[in-house]
Amino acid sequence: MTAAQAMASATARLRAAGVPDPARDARLLLAHAAQVDAARVTLIAPEDIAPEIAERYDNLIALRAVRVPVSHLIGEREFYGRRFKISGDVLDPRPETETLIEAALAEDFARVLDLGTGSGCILVTLLAERQDAKGLGIDLSEAACLQASANAVLNDVADRAQIITGDWFEGVEGRFDLIVANPPYLAAFEMDEVSPELRDHEPRMALTDEGDGLSAYRIIAAEAGSYLTPRGRVLCEIGHEQGPDVRRIFEREGWGSVRILPDLDRRDRVVVAQNPA
Ligand SMILES: C[S@@+](CC[C@H](N)C(=O)[O-])C[C@H]1O[C@@H](n2cnc3c(N)ncnc32)[C@H](O)[C@@H]1O
Repeated sequence: MTAAQAMASATARLRAAGVPDPARDARLLLAHAAQVDAARVTLIAPEDIAPEIAERYDNLIALRAVRVPVSHLIGEREFYGRRFKISGDVLDPRPETETLIEAALAEDFARVLDLGTGSGCILVTLLAERQDAKGLGIDLSEAACLQASANAVLNDVADRAQIITGDWFEGVEGRFDLIVANPPYLAAFEMDEVSPELRDHEPRMALTDEGDGLSAYRIIAAEAGSYLTPRGRVLCEIGHEQGPDVRRIFEREGWGSVRILPDLDRRDRVVVAQNPA
């Protein structure tokens, strides 16, 4: 069987299983099975594939068909142009989170705090982009903290990144120019509607607060002021329907300047609050 034939049959199998972008996933998984760069799959398409590669590919496709995310199967994910090790212990970094990165990089910062760091994709990216900055990442999940530490090493920022286990601001000391967070923002009832990839393979505590999806914003709006430098900023990713609610939460806590930024799909995605002090 040629690589092209194997991909066609894998695509059909994934489509039948309801996988959203079956051709893309069939291609990425073949690249992984054959240990070639994804951009080179077209070059090997006319060639026969070795039996051991065919078997490896078949196993990967069987797992994808039961909706194991591609990033878990290949063990990594690209985020803002860098590689991150990913496992079932952390949220798979989303492209929309790059909106928060862009907003964070729009102004200078020397010290950054990342609340709910997960894979570390936000903290590590910001430190890699700002070579003179230092940062602290915190997560309630010890397994996530280990993953974030590994990603700091992988991306050469470990000497400027401290990762600690804790509950939001627990154990955090000092002041920061920038506080970022992509907290769990799905309401408990929304968990019944998410895709099998999320429901069965991502940590539930990364997705929902088991309440109305707004509890982390209430804590951040109430406490972040004590950890910010004068003129420091808080940037939080939000669900696209949460803009008005999260704005109200920050304004009620006395934050003067609160803005909502859209993502590339023009949906509300990031709340920016500036320390009025
Ligand atoms: C939506 S994920 C974001 C992960 C990563 N920052 C990203 O953007 O891909 C939310 C993260 O918050 C963490 N988390 C949930 N509750 C927490 C709490 N009370 N204190 C600290 N972290 C918490 C979860 O373990 C998870 O890693």
